[in-house]
Amino acid sequence: MIPTLAWTPEGVRFIDQTKLPLEESYVLATTYEQVADVIVTMVVRGAPAIGVSAAYGIALGALKTKATTPAEFAPEFEQICARLAGTRPTAVNLFWAIDRMKKLFARLAAAGDSLDEVRGKILAEADAMYQEDIAACKAMGAFGGALLPDVGGVLTHCNAGALATCGYGTALGVIRSAVEQGKKIKVYADETRPFLQGARLTAWELMEDGIDTTVICDNMAASLMRAGKIQAVVVGADRIAANGDTANKIGTYNVAILAKEHGIPFYVAAPWSTIDLATATGEAIPIEERPAVEVTHHGGKQLTPNGVGIRNPAFDVTPAKYITGIVTERGVLRAPYVESLRGMELAAK
Ligand code: MRU
Repeated sequence: MIPTLAWTPEGVRFIDQTKLPLEESYVLATTYEQVADVIVTMVVRGAPAIGVSAAYGIALGALKTKATTPAEFAPEFEQICARLAGTRPTAVNLFWAIDRMKKLFARLAAAGDSLDEVRGKILAEADAMYQEDIAACKAMGAFGGALLPDVGGVLTHCNAGALATCGYGTALGVIRSAVEQGKKIKVYADETRPFLQGARLTAWELMEDGIDTTVICDNMAASLMRAGKIQAVVVGADRIAANGDTANKIGTYNVAILAKEHGIPFYVAAPWSTIDLATATGEAIPIEERPAVEVTHHGGKQLTPNGVGIRNPAFDVTPAKYITGIVTERGVLRAPYVESLRGMELAAK
């Protein structure tokens, strides 16, 4: 299995996703500040993976504190949560994980647990999130794999794979499951400028699994669709609003429009921790703007003239009307999403 992140006795170990596919190296974070740094610098990325990373960051903060009681630790706990929450704004999984830890800490402190008990339970909660994420990916795979054609091309954008989760992947989990079911899937991976998660990461992990994969530049999708090479699109998500509008890697919106124009189903695969019922529509989803250098330079080489204006929004929002189905670990949702999302949330309570 691809080791995206792992808890070790020394700290949290991350595969360095900025170095893949040319180098398989690891970064060890021994403090919560270092976990925050690996999230900001994209050593670890992908919505579910950064949520679980933050949970382990909180566990590291609790282990390293010099406080002796939960009450003494409380202000530091808030500071740790605030630092981790300040790393990246779009993927709601980050805030979901931090919120879950805040609720746990409040419960344990109120119950009179010792700081050592709190430490153990916080780490156990992070471990539970890790295991739940893998289980959710497997369940999405089973639901979503059935939607893919028996034979055909499937386009994906960015990396919503094992590297973006604790294992197996969301969109790539759906593809993995279809392949495991014996379907003959040819994957087209958008390179995903500017950070190249598709060319570097999706291609790397699918090749590791021996899945038929072809990388295309982002501007090639329309002509492949027109040529009949693509029978379905499946992507991940960073935040799904209550009406189904979906934030995902910049360029996802383009693909969704192209899919609609060519009559190709467009699926989003995401765990329930990506669904944000408190955000009514995509308009309210905060979009991260990343450093200009990711656009102006590649591999240390400058591509653009000095002083030119640069924009680098890391995500866009695909309006719900373009989404054929949202695959979650609870099942596949269909439009109208306001009703199907709320209905499935109520049914799970
Ligand atoms: O900027 P990134 O690499 O963190 O963006 C990742 C994506 O947009 C993924 O598609 C999304 O997080 C889903 S990952 C299962």
